[in-house]
Amino acid sequence: MNCFVIGGTGMVGALVVERLAARGHEVRVGTRAPARLGDLPGRVVGAAFQLQRASAEDFAGMDCVFCMIPRGVVLSEDEQGSLCAALSTAGVARVVLMTGLGVDRTPDTPLRRLEVALGRTGVALSIVRPTSMFQNLCAGALREGLARRDEIAQPAGDARISFVDARDVADVATTLLVDRRDDAAFDLTGAAAYGYEDLAAALGRALQRPIRYRPLADDGARIELAAAGLSEAAIEARFAFLSVARRGVFSGVTPDVERVLGRPPRTIDDFVTDHVAAWRKEVA
Ligand SMILES: NC(=O)c1ccc[n+]([C@@H]2O[C@H](COP(=O)([O-])OP(=O)(O)OC[C@H]3O[C@@H](n4cnc5c(N)ncnc54)[C@H](OP(=O)(O)O)[C@@H]3O)[C@@H](O)[C@H]2O)c1
Repeated sequence: MNCFVIGGTGMVGALVVERLAARGHEVRVGTRAPARLGDLPGRVVGAAFQLQRASAEDFAGMDCVFCMIPRGVVLSEDEQGSLCAALSTAGVARVVLMTGLGVDRTPDTPLRRLEVALGRTGVALSIVRPTSMFQNLCAGALREGLARRDEIAQPAGDARISFVDARDVADVATTLLVDRRDDAAFDLTGAAAYGYEDLAAALGRALQRPIRYRPLADDGARIELAAAGLSEAAIEARFAFLSVARRGVFSGVTPDVERVLGRPPRTIDDFVTDHVAAWRKEVA
């Protein structure tokens, strides 16, 4: 099959590309900078793509498209309309759209509007709505805090979240793209809810050094996260998510990963064991 992966260089998109390629599908990696992609496996090519300028030519000849909106990107109503029109005019047989857990309960958000708009195009659509992914600990300020200071510093209080492994999200998305055509929405969680204390303990076991969770007070957190390089929008997004999480909204578990894959989600220990290299002590 021919598959186009929007955000194909991002956290989940890159894993989807890897999986499609491993199964012998032809893949176009949608990226703003194809020249940066370097060596790609046999049937994978880079494709210059910008969400704000999507057109039917981008998706010409594609059987399926993995669609997502990168962090920090908000499409205008016109841009969203053009994206939907492009997918339907190109005759794409299936779209798998990734949004986020709970998006269906927030009617006025851009991601919910995109879910609804894409649903109205008539293109066969599966939606995956992951909860927070373990792999956020492998990048940016969270990764740095672990590698340099042996800590997770978050304004999360005692929030418990049913974190999901990004590899499971990619496995589900790939299955829905090429194997199991299912016009439905899937709420993707792990098999259990964890607090950040639990994450710190699991990391400590895998890294064989003590890791602590340092809950940040709201005011201090803004200053500290800005100093760590997060943009104002990223800080607000994190607060919005964690303030809802503190009310327990993201602690429920769903059977949807297993429903699609026929196996349980990866566990916290699977995640930390497989990613220890991300948090190796850095030599100053
Ligand atoms: N992280 C989580 O825990 C979590 C949980 C639930 C839902 N989500 C949702 O997942 C999405 C983010 O997924 P992700 O973390 O996999 O993606 P990501 O890493 O934030 O971004 C994916 C890629 O999008 C490309 N990109 C950026 N701006 C673009 C533009 N204007 N047009 C086209 N491509 C652009 C970038 O690639 P190039 O630089 O190569 O163009 C980037 O590598 C968000 O919608 C978020 O709400 C995340």
